[in-house]
Parts: sequence; C-alpha cells; structure tokens
Amino acid sequence: MGSLFDFMLPELKSPMTGASTDALMAFIHIVSFIILAGVSIAMIYFAIKYKRKSENDKTPLITHNNTLEITWSVIPLLLVFVVFGWGYKGWLNLKTVPDNAYEIQVSAYKWGWTFKYETGAQVGNEVHVPAGRPVKLVMQSQDVLHSFFVPDYRIKQDVLPNRYTYVWFQAEEAGESQVFCTEYCGTSHSDMLAKVIVHTEEDFKAWLDEQGTGGGGTPVERGEQLATLQGCVSCHSVDGSDGIGPTWQGLWEQERNFEDGSSEVADQNYIRESILDPGSKIVEGYQNQMVSYEGRLSDDDISDIIEYIKTLEE
Ligand code: CUA
Repeated sequence: MGSLFDFMLPELKSPMTGASTDALMAFIHIVSFIILAGVSIAMIYFAIKYKRKSENDKTPLITHNNTLEITWSVIPLLLVFVVFGWGYKGWLNLKTVPDNAYEIQVSAYKWGWTFKYETGAQVGNEVHVPAGRPVKLVMQSQDVLHSFFVPDYRIKQDVLPNRYTYVWFQAEEAGESQVFCTEYCGTSHSDMLAKVIVHTEEDFKAWLDEQGTGGGGTPVERGEQLATLQGCVSCHSVDGSDGIGPTWQGLWEQERNFEDGSSEVADQNYIRESILDPGSKIVEGYQNQMVSYEGRLSDDDISDIIEYIKTLEE
C-alpha cells in the first residue's frame, strides 16, 4: 500500500521505525480521497437534481433524519478510532527501543550536533552508525529547544535542555541520510544540519577504532573519576553497602520508592534530577543531606556519571 504514495516521501531506510507510519499515511490518504470523491459527486448530483425549477418550487420542511445523521457521525468516529489505534501502536513502537540497541549520546547546541560514543570518541554533525542494528540516540540540548529529524527514517524527536529524550532507528543498508533540526532555534536554525552515515558492521568497527578515545578516556572512566573527585562515592557506595545516601549498585533502571509513597524508574532524567535537585524526591528510609550540584557539574559531566552508574550492576 505504501508504494502508491512513494512519490511524496523519501525512500524509507528504517522500515522498523517507518513502515507503520507510511502505511497509516497511505490509509489516511486513500480514505480522504474516497470521502472527497463521494462528497463532490453527491454535491454536484444534488445541485442538479434539486435545482429550483419554477417560482412555486418550495423547499420541503425537513427537520431531521436520524438514520442519516447517525450514519455520518458513526462512520467518521470509527475512522478516527482506527487512525488513533494505528497511530498509538506506531508511537509505542517508536518509544520501545530494542534491547540490543547501540547507544550514542547526542548533544545539540546553537547550531550544531555533537555525537559521543561509549569509547569516548566524539564527532560533530556526523553520526556514524552500524547497518542492520538498532541505534538509540540519547539526546540533550545545551541551550534552547531543538528537534532531531531524519525524514528517511520517519523519526522526529524534540531535544530539550535539562532533560534527556531518546529516539531509535535501524538503517538496513550502508549509505547516508540527512538530519534536520526541525524546531526553530534562532538565526542559523536552517543550517543546523547533520548526516547519518551508515556503515556495514565491520566498517563501523574500523571507523570507531580510528577515532580513538577522544583524549579524556571513555565516558564511563570519566564518570568514575568525577564520582570520586566530587565526593559522590563518600555517601553513595558502589558495592551495595549502606551509606548516608542510597547505593549506586543496581540503581540503573531500578524502581525507586519515595517517602511520599510515589515511585519512579531510575532512568537518565531521574538521576539528573537527583544530582541537580536532590531534595525533590527522597528515597524511602533516607533523609536528604545532599546539596545541589548545579554549577559544579556540567551536562557532559552528569551524562558521564550516569554512564558510570549504568555499569554498576548487582
Ligand atoms: Cu536547532 Cu533549529
């Protein structure tokens, strides 16, 4: 069904994220054309059939018609439900990252993109990825709102300051795709472009080796250093033992229960908030004695500490 509308869209290069979107778009177009044709034909037919023929021609006084009214309400309602259900399913798929995804950290700024790899390598305005494997981008902005848009993959996600957002795709073949910033972000918004460069699995490994570690070690190594330098580990153990604050061991993606009875999964946003505003959520059985690290740790520092915490499995 998608092929009918190919002329309107760039070639789909990430079917895992885009196939459902394309199919839904084709469905909406087909239904819209059928309705447009039906309404137009009926309108022309009635205009001719009921044209006023003489002075005495009077309009019959019809007040309502239940059958007709129910029909033209229920059919569109059902269509809306179909489109909603279909769209919701597609959205869930876009929000559910496959487990074996290759993760890359993305930092957006006025006006460009930085991509950071687990090896410590860092590249600007070019994100290199392996083909045939899901890739997860964990994104953050250093200033204003931006938005990461790859038409070839049918993915688009806002990138915010002070908050992590993510997006995933799987490019099936080696090649290149254009990235646009699609949130107006100032003078050079239209120049805020990047490229996704898809390599075969082997070429990608070779490319990554070539990049080295970016000089300062891997994000995990930097995170571990920071945790010591900044004194995090004097209150938070990394081996599960008790301390003034909750241990970091097993913290990643753990369900946290708070004093006020609420709970939350410890993801990037939770850990970031805990570092910058420690008093906002207090884990059951603890008292908050931590001060904010706002201004002491940069966004990059926080991301590196999170990468380190992720490695502290139970
Ligand atoms: Cu960044 Cu528009």
